[in-house]
Amino acid sequence: MELQQELKRIERSAVQKARRAKTNDAVAKLRAETVGKKGSLGSMMRSLRDLPKDERPEAGQRINKVKTKIEAALVDAVKRLDDARELAELEAGGCDVTLPGRWNFPGAAHPLAQVQEDILDALKAIGFSVADGPLIEHDWYNFEALNMPPDHPARDMQDTFFVADNVVLRTHTSNVQIRTMKKRKPPVRVVAPGMVFRNDDVDPTHSPVFHQIEGLWIDEKATFADLKGVLKQLAIKLFGADAELRFRPSFFPFTEPSAEVDVMFRSEKRSGWLEILGAGMVDPAVLEAVGYDPDEVQGFAFGLGVERIAMLRWGIDDIRLFYENDLRFLEQFSGR
Ligand code: DAH
Repeated sequence: MELQQELKRIERSAVQKARRAKTNDAVAKLRAETVGKKGSLGSMMRSLRDLPKDERPEAGQRINKVKTKIEAALVDAVKRLDDARELAELEAGGCDVTLPGRWNFPGAAHPLAQVQEDILDALKAIGFSVADGPLIEHDWYNFEALNMPPDHPARDMQDTFFVADNVVLRTHTSNVQIRTMKKRKPPVRVVAPGMVFRNDDVDPTHSPVFHQIEGLWIDEKATFADLKGVLKQLAIKLFGADAELRFRPSFFPFTEPSAEVDVMFRSEKRSGWLEILGAGMVDPAVLEAVGYDPDEVQGFAFGLGVERIAMLRWGIDDIRLFYENDLRFLEQFSGR
């Protein structure tokens, strides 16, 4: 019983002192006095010898229990003092600015993805929805229904990869015009982004794989003026509120009339009109091919190259940079 009381007293006093300790030295001293080799518990352990043999195990366990409690109180005390010191240092402005920062690397959208997203955002805001179509395409959807029958000279403008007879890697996203109109009744108002393929040698402005975005708007009365309005909105989003557009007469088999559209570009390096896309009123032959009645519906289409827009926007002069995945290039578009 005596032992029990003595242990209680030691525990209570040690825990209290630990709670009140103001310095790490005080904690160390308390540790030595209690659980240390020469501390009070140590000497109690040694005095177990004087007890009758059968009482020793229980007494030993009691001592160890108290030892564990005191040790926990000492650990708490050290933590309390450390926290207080850290807080005091912070409050004193003692934050160590030479320590390396904590970094994480969240990644960022590829510049081509950023441009694509901007274009889709601008068009979605004025009522377009996103459509897609296959990359491996039948000749009919890629060419024939777009008013390019076999042997049409316009096919030469698009050096084609053939997968099989009458099966190609799509040379443009215009196949989605046909796919969409075959699937849906008018009105349609879609925008279709995606990869396209041309049998071109790689050079600073050509890549056999690149990206286009196609737009198509068909209803009872969509006009060339609507086309201009849509493209103006797009230009504002891409090149700023004062973007100026110029329409030049051109030719595409699937539109009549057709236009090439330029944007006025002003930068330190160069300024002037730069072509950004092709567009026009959908040719009645295309409407007929998909089973629409050209006397009932009409509309316009446009197609643009994502790489080209990105190159203009950021003054990039080599298309290959987009595909090399060199972080020194890509990190410049991370927005960080
Ligand atoms: N498909 C054309 C190309 O790849 C681009 C194009 C021009 C698409 C005019 C259109 C358009 O929808 O109206 O060269």
